[in-house]
Amino acid sequence: MKRRWGLWGCIMLSVCSLAWAEEKAGQGIYEGPVEQRVKALAAIQPGLGGGMNEIGSRFANLYWAANGGNWGLAQYQLKELLEAQEVAETTRPARAPMLKAFEQSYLEPLAAAIKKKDLSQFNPRFAAAEQGCNACHTALGYGFLRYHVPKRPPPSWLNFTLKTPPNYDEKSEPK
Ligand code: HEC
Repeated sequence: MKRRWGLWGCIMLSVCSLAWAEEKAGQGIYEGPVEQRVKALAAIQPGLGGGMNEIGSRFANLYWAANGGNWGLAQYQLKELLEAQEVAETTRPARAPMLKAFEQSYLEPLAAAIKKKDLSQFNPRFAAAEQGCNACHTALGYGFLRYHVPKRPPPSWLNFTLKTPPNYDEKSEPK
């Protein structure tokens, strides 16, 4: 008799998990009420982790571009970094105030140094921003994420030492 109940339990469990799986499948992005589909789309948006990977790589590119004299590339990398931040501000609104504060305190002064092509201003401001990155990691409980810019230019198909001015015009981008 005991064994029978075990068997029943097992069958019931399978039925329940099948029903659960079916319900999950119904949360796809192609079918169902619009609100449900929007929720399904929201659930798969990149969070801070994915965006941060991009930010980490662009931050290193930015450093090596400025130090190689490719100011146009440095300016472009900073702009793209900010766009990655904007995505995170939308998908993780709870982090938005800190990201905005970081932008104002560290990234705007960095942008001003790039505009002036002033390396003696850029390098200390970059170091301060790097500390700011890690301060946020620590504040949010991610103290094990200690960012440091690579000591040598990271492997890249971009030429960091091409000499260009910081004349990139964002307004020329199509919408
Ligand atoms: C708003 C606070 C905040 C700021 C500012 C910030 N980070 Fe982060 N960063 C995080 C959090 C939180 C995570 C963990 C992401 C997660 O898993 O949700 C993270 C993760 C990372 C990671 C690990 C990504 C991975 O998954 O491997 C890197 C690299 C990184 N950040 C680089 C940077 C750099 C570079 C800067 C500065 C230019 C920066 N971060 C600024 C909060 C911040």
